[in-house]
Amino acid sequence: MQKVKIGIIGCGNISGIYLENLTRTFDNTEVFAVSDISEERMKTAAETYGVPNQWTAEQILSSEEIEIVLNLTTPGDHFRICKLALEHGKHVYVEKPLSLLPEQGRQLVELAREKGLLLGGAPDTFLGAGLQTCRKLIDDGYIGDPVAATAFMMSHGHESWHPNPAFYYQAGGGPMFDMGPYYITALVSLLGPVQMVAGMTGKALQQRTITSQPLFGEKIDVQVPTHAAGTLRFCSGAIGTMITSFDVWSSTLPHIEIYGTQGTLLVPDPNNFGGPILLRPAGGSEFKEIPLLHQYAENTRGIGVADLAHCVRSGGTPRAGGELTNHVLEIMHAFHSSSDSGAYAELTTTCEQPRPLKTGLIKGYLE
Ligand SMILES: NC(=O)c1ccc[n+]([C@@H]2O[C@H](COP(=O)([O-])OP(=O)(O)OC[C@H]3O[C@@H](n4cnc5c(N)ncnc54)[C@H](O)[C@@H]3O)[C@@H](O)[C@H]2O)c1
Repeated sequence: MQKVKIGIIGCGNISGIYLENLTRTFDNTEVFAVSDISEERMKTAAETYGVPNQWTAEQILSSEEIEIVLNLTTPGDHFRICKLALEHGKHVYVEKPLSLLPEQGRQLVELAREKGLLLGGAPDTFLGAGLQTCRKLIDDGYIGDPVAATAFMMSHGHESWHPNPAFYYQAGGGPMFDMGPYYITALVSLLGPVQMVAGMTGKALQQRTITSQPLFGEKIDVQVPTHAAGTLRFCSGAIGTMITSFDVWSSTLPHIEIYGTQGTLLVPDPNNFGGPILLRPAGGSEFKEIPLLHQYAENTRGIGVADLAHCVRSGGTPRAGGELTNHVLEIMHAFHSSSDSGAYAELTTTCEQPRPLKTGLIKGYLE
């Protein structure tokens, strides 16, 4: 089958792993053009991964050959570029979060539907071996009916390593919008959609100092909450407890745990693709490590794009699809709006639990 041609807009920090997997791991994708306002970054990306075209964003959008626009810009540009790409008749996959505002996410989902185009977005770590094995264990009844979950992302922010970290403290950043997508997408993939959220948010520091190079010593004004805690009621009835924070130096809390009527499952870091997974059945004396049952335990960022490309050729709904990423966007906002209003936030969006991947796939294939 003819490979699906992809145009990447944004050749920054995260682009390398997408380029790696979309040019070398998956058989159904071809990176046909890259674009960046930094010529140097664009050139490095093209030369490192053998991409034939270095184009402006406008050239990518108006190219007859590009079928999927992969938007790897920073959050403030996600909505504008995704909307333009859909208006130009392109399928779209975007890094997280889908957009800054829930209304923008909704607009993109509607625009894609109206135009008969596919929309998808990061994260796709839930398609990795770790979270897919957890999904299979839950679906196969190893912990009975899930009744509750906890999810904790505790850190002190990204200014110690990211070369240009200011965006993490602007709209679309903060721990919830930056890291929440991994945790919430994992929870929705394991437990289904969310009905309502109660949240509280805070901000420990008004200003942060960059300690990474090349901007060492520069100050960042913190414009968003840097600690978000709350409770989620899933449509299934299960109750989740979650904290995402950039205000914590260290913590021993686990990434994600799922509690069922028949046991407890320790879920691996949802920012990664592998394990370890630990399971302790009701009455069991200890947690035991469960072997990974699926393909893609290594960093396979871009698998969501390859899955969307598969749907471009063969039909179907992408697993890391627009409705899922839009639901996750609304949930993240719900922590903040509930905190601001002092009331539960009822969600207006929902999504299907994404279809699991099969066990025993050959590397590079999705079906
Ligand atoms: N850095 C990470 O480890 C990481 C991990 C997962 C997800 N993400 C997400 O990926 C996205 C990008 O993050 P990043 O760390 O790569 O940021 P970055 O700042 O390193 O890269 C963004 C790139 O987009 C380019 N760009 C912006 N507007 C453009 C336009 N109109 N046309 C062409 N190029 C344009 C910039 O010049 C820059 O090179 C963010 O949404 C982030 O949340 C990042």
